[in-house]
Amino acid sequence: MGGDWGEVTEAEAVAAVEAARNAGIDFFDTADVYGDGRSERIVGETLAEDIAAGDVTVATKAGRRLDPHEADGYAEANLRRFVDRSRENLGMDTLDLVQLHCPPTDVYYRPATFDALATLEDEGRIASYGVSVERVEEGLKAIEYPGVETVQIIFNPFRQRPAELFLDEAAARDVGVICRVPLASGLLTGALSRDAEFPEDDHRNFNREGEAFDVGETFAGVPFEAGLDAVDELDERLPDDRPLPEFALRWILDHDAVSTVIPGSTTPEHVRANAAASDAEPLSDAEREAASE
Ligand SMILES: NC(=O)c1ccc[n+]([C@@H]2O[C@H](COP(=O)([O-])OP(=O)(O)OC[C@H]3O[C@@H](n4cnc5c(N)ncnc54)[C@H](OP(=O)(O)O)[C@@H]3O)[C@@H](O)[C@H]2O)c1
Repeated sequence: MGGDWGEVTEAEAVAAVEAARNAGIDFFDTADVYGDGRSERIVGETLAEDIAAGDVTVATKAGRRLDPHEADGYAEANLRRFVDRSRENLGMDTLDLVQLHCPPTDVYYRPATFDALATLEDEGRIASYGVSVERVEEGLKAIEYPGVETVQIIFNPFRQRPAELFLDEAAARDVGVICRVPLASGLLTGALSRDAEFPEDDHRNFNREGEAFDVGETFAGVPFEAGLDAVDELDERLPDDRPLPEFALRWILDHDAVSTVIPGSTTPEHVRANAAASDAEPLSDAEREAASE
């Protein structure tokens, strides 16, 4: 919904959110910069009743409205301004969860930013706060702050490093782990081909080498062609009744420290299939082995 994925109409966006809700999804991730507030507004309007009833959790993000995007900007007054705009967009007095949106690494070494988030929490503007990180090291630093309740991180069969140390540390501190880019921007669905073309304003067109933002956000940092080869190999080793997207989502969810996984989709059919992965069988040893090789 306006987060560098090409054009998505309002009707498509609403249909995707409704499909998710109807499939039992109760955690939604957005950000103040997605479509410059459009995503928050659509999520807030579509889920208004569920939000009022406390039946869903909506996570948003703050920080990327800073221009220039520098550590100094992560100050209390700016964060309050961003949070107030998100409250208005989402129609929520108290935001469920606000995540610093991949801030510069310096921010993790500035307790004042985390004190500011605690102040916003005390004021009732937010119920809890966390961070969305680019690097494992940032996640490890962030969870040293006792008020940080969640870390959003890229974790999927192509990007396994968080499993080494980060997940254990997060579990030990009872920090929620939200896994993003679980399908490596679509690579891990098997639906992309070598001659796939992406719209001009789709990050898979303009950020393959990290030209616009961290390369990890696009195909999980894996070169496109090499990723397609790996997906072909993986698919051959999976049983026929294990579709690739389900495999990728299950691989993530099978880690006990993972709290939730947030596949992005504008296609109701994909949304329903992804939601069903929650109830699918855990991976077999042979399937896990395929991912580790
Ligand atoms: N810095 C940050 O904090 C940050 C950065 C990036 C993402 N995020 C969050 O993470 C979420 C997920 O990441 P992402 O959207 O970048 O990547 P992703 O979930 O890895 O991949 C999304 C892509 O996979 C396709 N897809 C999804 N389910 C499918 C299925 N079952 N079969 C075939 N294709 C399928 C989608 O196409 P269709 O639309 O056709 O389904 C879309 O092209 C985002 O929505 C956002 O909330 C946060």
